[in-house]
Amino acid sequence: MGEPAPWPWDSPLVDLNGDIVLTYMYYDVPFVPTPEVVVRRMLQLARVKPGEVLYDLGSGDGRIVIMAAKEFGAYAYGVEIRKDLYEQSSAKIRDLGLEGRAKILNTNFFDADISDADVVTMYLLTSVNERLKPKLEKELRPGTRVVSHDFEVSGWRPMVIEEVYEEWRSHKIYLYKIPGKEIPVPSGKTTSIEDPLTRQIMALVDGNNSVEDIAAKLNTTPREVRNALRKLLDAGLVEEIRIVR
Ligand SMILES: C[S@@+](CC[C@H](N)C(=O)[O-])C[C@H]1O[C@@H](n2cnc3c(N)ncnc32)[C@H](O)[C@@H]1O
Repeated sequence: MGEPAPWPWDSPLVDLNGDIVLTYMYYDVPFVPTPEVVVRRMLQLARVKPGEVLYDLGSGDGRIVIMAAKEFGAYAYGVEIRKDLYEQSSAKIRDLGLEGRAKILNTNFFDADISDADVVTMYLLTSVNERLKPKLEKELRPGTRVVSHDFEVSGWRPMVIEEVYEEWRSHKIYLYKIPGKEIPVPSGKTTSIEDPLTRQIMALVDGNNSVEDIAAKLNTTPREVRNALRKLLDAGLVEEIRIVR
């Protein structure tokens, strides 16, 4: 016998070499939904904005993904290992007509590419957060917000810890931001830029302002700034985007 299954109640019958064998699916965390009021507060604390990309790691019935897409205008992805929950939440997304904004990926969150996230949400366990930490630190860009329900990411300093009371118990929400800055560096080359937002962004590219600073000054999102910077890089007006950790 190896280690006991962490959550042995996910236990299907499988046909192995012609025999029916009771086996256990070793999921990292069982399905326990976050109450809607807590979901909304998690998304508010993360300041999810229209057009931003959110991943919910272990998305269960898809409630975080659905609310992020429907109420906050995000492009929201859920990563869910259980096929039944993947099918159930995908059907709900279809029924709500949210296919253009919400999608569930039926895979293990340790294997999912989450590098384009603006926001990551989690309701897992401290031990699982600990195992996910190296992936989050490696893949996520500086400034990405990580919101965890009830379980902290040990070693990270939260920007906010909030307690939300709901029916029969209180819930803790931890908000983190991936440290560091992305600093666009001008090339020194000049040329006229037609698009007004791109022109305003270029005016703020001075090798000191970070992507987040520029977004805040122009009241837009880091994602919008990055999109414009990609074009400015192609046009040779921006030399590089330096990552300072
Ligand atoms: C506590 S539930 C949270 C559900 C949802 N995020 C919420 O807050 O309502 C955790 C979910 O993670 C899923 N899960 C567990 N291990 C996983 C893994 N390695 N990869 C993807 N999903 C996983 C479980 O099946 C379960 O649906």
